[in-house]
Amino acid sequence: MKTPLLLILAVWLNTQYGGCALSPPCSYPPSKWCSSLEAAVQCGVLTQCLESNFTKSHQRADPIEVGLYYESLCPGCRLFLTEVLFPTWVLLNDIMTVTLVPYGNAMEKPEGQKFIFQCQHGEQECLGNMIETCLINMTSNAFPIIFCMESSSDVINSAKSCAELYSPQLSWDKVMSCVKGDQGNQLMHLNAMKTKALKPPHQYVPWVTINGEHTEELQDKAMASLFTLVCNMYKGNKPPMCGGGQRHFKSYCHNE
Ligand SMILES: *[C@@H]1O[C@H](CO)[C@@H](O)[C@H](O)[C@H]1NC(C)=O
Ligand SMILES: *[C@@H]1O[C@H](CO)[C@@H](O)[C@H](O)[C@H]1NC(C)=O
Repeated sequence: MKTPLLLILAVWLNTQYGGCALSPPCSYPPSKWCSSLEAAVQCGVLTQCLESNFTKSHQRADPIEVGLYYESLCPGCRLFLTEVLFPTWVLLNDIMTVTLVPYGNAMEKPEGQKFIFQCQHGEQECLGNMIETCLINMTSNAFPIIFCMESSSDVINSAKSCAELYSPQLSWDKVMSCVKGDQGNQLMHLNAMKTKALKPPHQYVPWVTINGEHTEELQDKAMASLFTLVCNMYKGNKPPMCGGGQRHFKSYCHNE
């Protein structure tokens, strides 16, 4: 019903304002011409906007959602996050989103209104999980900071300088009051609930979900080449990065 109505309206408006009649001035900047029917008509670009909207809706598809359930000090998690997930996201962030859930095999016990957490790799790991959880909540640039932490030799002690590097506006005092306070405790409990809600339940970390789904096949493909998996699964027009030779190194050093 929508399109015929639009067309009838367009034809009507065209007979009102089109032809030799004076058009009303177009008061929209070019970037807004297609933002509404009214703007498109006023600026005389309705046909073009309808076409361009139609084409766009056929090129764009939902981004691939990659979920990572992990622990801040687990070696396999650190390897996957730093050498696979982050580089893939840098190249493909137009067509993928990443959700990090630091918790993994940790356990929680309620104590009054709060929770006590126990982590597989000890208290330091709980601290790392908590810092990363607060960062995810407090800055939109958390992933580079977490990448920086996980790729440095000391995950915990690098946190402050990684945050200063990638999110200079962020107050470290505020991050630490989240880490030590009720907010962090609540956020970690949410991570615990997300992790417990996994279907099938996770058996190891790093545990990967693709669009919320985990299968052995998806996990294996993500481990072998997340890049290829995301490119293959994306339903819209593939970005140039996904095409052919670009992702292979072409320059080698040969012996003379
Ligand atoms: C084009 O798409 C945008 C966003 O989907 C929508 O708000 C707008 O009304 C559309 N424009 C026309 C002329 O249909
Ligand atoms: C951060 O956590 C608070 C609860 O402590 C929540 O209300 C808010 O939506 C969270 N923000 C983001 C960006 O996750």
